[in-house]
Amino acid sequence: MTRKVFGGTKSYYLLAMTVALLTLAEAHAAEPGNPNVGHTFASDHCSECHAVNENEALSPNAGAPSFTSIANTSGMTGLALSAWLDTAHPTMPNFILSKQDRDDVIAYIISLKRKASQ
Ligand code: HEC
Repeated sequence: MTRKVFGGTKSYYLLAMTVALLTLAEAHAAEPGNPNVGHTFASDHCSECHAVNENEALSPNAGAPSFTSIANTSGMTGLALSAWLDTAHPTMPNFILSKQDRDDVIAYIISLKRKASQ
């Protein structure tokens, strides 16, 4: 009986690991975030300093680039944004964003790139 329970636990770990790996693979695939949710999130949390709306150029905080200009910085990718948001910054408060919030806000910023560059 003990043996059976142990076996069950083992396959649970295996399952959990598989799920974790799949999630990881998905996270790297593209943009799992929802840009609409990201826009709302940015309006609530980033617009204090950044111009967050499409084609809005002037940020409330002159030192903070507009999201449209961030998106259109050449070579800007979701991965680069993700790295930025994971790094500490002297001029920007360090946010602890949940993975979902971060994915959404990144998807939103990247969406500005596509629209603006077409
Ligand atoms: C208190 C002001 C403030 C808030 C709030 C803020 N930022 Fe910033 N952010 C800045 C400043 C200032 C810079 C420029 C920093 C620098 O260049 O060193 C910056 C830079 C950035 C950059 C890098 C731009 C680039 O060209 O590499 C990204 C991406 C960014 N912010 C995203 C966000 C997101 C997403 C939020 C909301 C979750 C946010 N910021 C909220 C002040 C802020």
